[in-house]
Amino acid sequence: MGKIKKIGVLTSGGDSPGMNAAIRAVTRTAIYNGLEVIGIRHGYSGMINANFKPMKAFSVSDIIQRGGTILKTARCEEFRTPEGRKTAYENLVAAGIDGVVAIGGDGTFKGAAIFNEEYDIPFVGVPGTIDNDIYGTDYTIGYDTALNTVVEAVDKIRDTASAHNRMFFVEVMGAEAGHIALYSGIASGAEAIIMPEIKGEARDLRRMIENGNKRKKSSNIIIVAEGDEEGGAIAIAEKLKPELKDYDIRVSILGHLQRGGSPSALDRVNASRLGNAAVEALLDGQKSVMVGLQNNEIVLVPFRKAVKLHKGLNQSLVDIIDVLNV
Ligand code: F6P
Repeated sequence: MGKIKKIGVLTSGGDSPGMNAAIRAVTRTAIYNGLEVIGIRHGYSGMINANFKPMKAFSVSDIIQRGGTILKTARCEEFRTPEGRKTAYENLVAAGIDGVVAIGGDGTFKGAAIFNEEYDIPFVGVPGTIDNDIYGTDYTIGYDTALNTVVEAVDKIRDTASAHNRMFFVEVMGAEAGHIALYSGIASGAEAIIMPEIKGEARDLRRMIENGNKRKKSSNIIIVAEGDEEGGAIAIAEKLKPELKDYDIRVSILGHLQRGGSPSALDRVNASRLGNAAVEALLDGQKSVMVGLQNNEIVLVPFRKAVKLHKGLNQSLVDIIDVLNV
C-alpha cells in the first residue's frame, strides 16, 4: 500500500468510558497530519453496511468527558464470516479508506487480525474495554473509570451492610477475567474476592470468607467476578448459605452501570495517548498491531499475541488479600 491518506475509525464490542476521548485523539491526530477521517458507525456492522460519516476536528468537540461512544458500537456476527469481511473490504475500498483504527477488546482484535491476513488495508487496534483483560497492555481504556464506579457502589453497600450486620455478595463485570474484582476488592476492603483465575485449594470459599471473620465483623463484602466457574453471585451465595447460617446474606449485581459514566482523568489521558499512537503507527506503516501501555510507555503488540496470550492477575495483589483481612 502507498502512503495513507484517509483513515477509518470505529468502536466495537462492549463500550467503555474513554472511547470518546480515543476517537477524538484519533481524529485530531489524523487531521493534524493532513489525513481525512471517516467515522465508521456501529463497529464492524458499519463496515459491512457502509455506515460512514466524515469527521472534522469539530466533530469530536465536547466529547472527551462523555461515556459511551459517539460512533456507537456492536458485536457483529457477520464480520466473523468470509463473506462479511469481503463486503467490508469492498466498502472500505469504495470509500477510499486505506487504514483503520479499531477501538475495542479481544473480539475486536480477533476480527481485525483475520481481516489483515486476508486484505491489505492495515488495521491498528486501541485497547478499550472495562475488563482490562488484554495481553500486552497494562491498561485498557475504561478500566479505571469502571473500577471507581464499582468502589463507589461497594462503599454504599458497605454502609447498609454495616447498619444491618449483613454479608453481601457483590457481582462485578469482567467476562472471564478477575481484574475488576481483584482491584475493586482491594480498593473497597472486601473480606473475600472470588475470581475465575483462582482455582484449586484457594477455591475454598468458606475458608476465604471465614478468614475475614476471625474477629466478628459488622459487615462482610464478598466480591464475585461474573465469569466464575461456580456461577455468579446468586449461585455462589445460594451454595454457601447452608454453611453460613450465622450470616444474614444479600446479593447485589452491579451490572451495566459499570460501563457508563464520565471517564476518569486517567482514562481520558491514556485514551488520548493511545489514540494518538494508533494514528502514528498507521503513518509508520504498521499493520495488525495493537498499541498498548507497558510501564507507562507506548508499545506495539501484534494482534496475534494480544488475542492468543492470557493476561494473568497481578499476583502481588492476590497475595495480600488474606493479609489485609486478618
Ligand atoms: O467486555 C465488557 C463487558 O462489559 C464484560 O465485562 C461483560 O461480560 C460483557 O461486556 C457484557 O456484554 P453485553 O453488554 O453484551 O451484555
